[in-house]
Amino acid sequence: MKGIILAGGNGTRLQPLTFVGSKQLAPVYDKPMIYYPLSMLMLAGVRDILIITRPTELALFQTLFGDGRHLGLCIDYAEQDEPRGIADAFRVGADHIRGEQCALMLGDNLFHGANLPSLLRRTALKMSGCVLFGHEVADPQRFGVAEVDARGRLVSIEEKPSCPRSNLAIPGMYFFDTQVTDITKNLVPSARGELEITDVLRSYLDQGTAELVWLGRGVTWLDTGTHETLLEASTFVREVQRRQGTRLACIEEIAMYMGYITPDDCHTLGAEMSGSPYGQYVMDRARSFSRGMPPTALSEDL
Ligand code: DAU
Repeated sequence: MKGIILAGGNGTRLQPLTFVGSKQLAPVYDKPMIYYPLSMLMLAGVRDILIITRPTELALFQTLFGDGRHLGLCIDYAEQDEPRGIADAFRVGADHIRGEQCALMLGDNLFHGANLPSLLRRTALKMSGCVLFGHEVADPQRFGVAEVDARGRLVSIEEKPSCPRSNLAIPGMYFFDTQVTDITKNLVPSARGELEITDVLRSYLDQGTAELVWLGRGVTWLDTGTHETLLEASTFVREVQRRQGTRLACIEEIAMYMGYITPDDCHTLGAEMSGSPYGQYVMDRARSFSRGMPPTALSEDL
């Protein structure tokens, strides 16, 4: 399965922060925002990843991740010259996908919660049709919204409806089978001029192959598109990390846990940042792993 992280857009709601920088490189407490969606793909077992950015910022992402080899990944980059909509990711990324299944993460979505790693792994394994997720929110009109019938079956999908039919928002994490590039070829822009991800999802729904997976209360989902939500996300990450003494979306630790790199490799990556608490943490985790920390202790807590 291929992965795409969509990390372009104008970041209008975060101006002036985004005049000379990418939103997805903005700090969410102790690490760049993009670490969070990247960690989701890594936990799903997806290692071949395309990062789509604005042309002006591509080099910054390249500096951050290079070709991804140090994390046991293969990371490539593509430019989106205009924010033509989320579904444009499948046009820009068509060469990368090359007829394989594909997981798409929005670069500003952050997830944390019990059983998420195993849910991601299961989803990536059994893919046919598409999988979207549903999460209850207080303000569904800000998101794509899923409606379910009395038996919990998905019956409709709408983008930012003014009168939402449910409070089940659709987060920016999606899994698609090999049809996705063909479906996107035929897509036309919506009234607001964007290629909508919800139109892609609706094509699958019409075929009867869209699966909705509820993210229960045990999962926290934050999108970080405004100054308020960016601060909320940083505060959330700081609190969880402070209480647990662990780090969320620590991509070096995840790479080691997933077997993409060895504990020695992980320790070396931490040592390169040894002046920071983050680097110290990476080295500590590498040492614990070498001493035989049971994988199950890690597996649902990354
Ligand atoms: O956060 C989840 C929501 O994301 C979904 O519920 C909606 O269905 C989906 O349309 C999307 O809504 P947003 O209003 O949050 O989308 P936004 O325009 O903020 O873009 C989300 C991310 O994708 C953001 O990091 C910028 C990036 N992006 C967006 C567009 C439209 C691109 O890189 N290129 C684009 O063309």
